[in-house]
Amino acid sequence: MVVVATHIVQHPLAQHLLTELRNRETEPSRFRQLAWTLSTLLILEATSGVSLSSRLIETPLEPYEGQVLEHGLAIVPILRAGLSMLEPGLQLLPDVAVGYIGLERSHETAIASSYYCKLPNLSGRFTVLVDPMLATGGSAAQAATLLKFHGAEKLVMACVIAAPEGIGAFEKAHPDVPVFTAAVDRELNGQKYILPGLGDYGDRLYGTL
Ligand code: PRP
Ligand code: URA
Repeated sequence: MVVVATHIVQHPLAQHLLTELRNRETEPSRFRQLAWTLSTLLILEATSGVSLSSRLIETPLEPYEGQVLEHGLAIVPILRAGLSMLEPGLQLLPDVAVGYIGLERSHETAIASSYYCKLPNLSGRFTVLVDPMLATGGSAAQAATLLKFHGAEKLVMACVIAAPEGIGAFEKAHPDVPVFTAAVDRELNGQKYILPGLGDYGDRLYGTL
């Protein structure tokens, strides 16, 4: 099977926002604002491959053959940190269905276990899986498997920071699913945190440090 590429969002604003997110001095309220804007950029980029179909409408002056999205969309955050990418997606995307996948990594093994899953039928929808951190890739790979089981065919993954190890593991499990990210960092540490990274995204978002 063809392996699709990892896309690094090139907009300078994405790098500016990410640097502020990484800064340990950034407080949760500011972190949430930055996360919102950066997620908007990421989701825009991740949905750049949606197909269009033509639609005839009337402007106030004459008929016009315009273009509209051919298929509905779906957005699925991985709880809990992925919730920060949901609202920006809902603001941006028309006709969007929402699913939720709850996964939590063990602090000892870094293996994610599932505690919640509620998904719409995804067949025929362009589906965006969102989770800000792709570390070992275990959570995203499990989630993508669930999404395919629920009918997802056109599937993309959007994250804020990816580790090379996570990209490798995710590509191996789902070579057909492109990853859109603001950065590919250096490596994972012994506890499977991304370096340089930004720490624990969920904790920084919700102040649970
Ligand atoms: C974080 C993050 C991802 C996962 C990435 O979630 O939001 O879901 O770790 O790690 P992986 O690629 O090694 O699987 P965490 O399990 O800490 O839960 P939280 O979102 O509730 O903080
Ligand atoms: N989850 C996070 O929130 N941060 C990491 O660096 C790795 C996993």
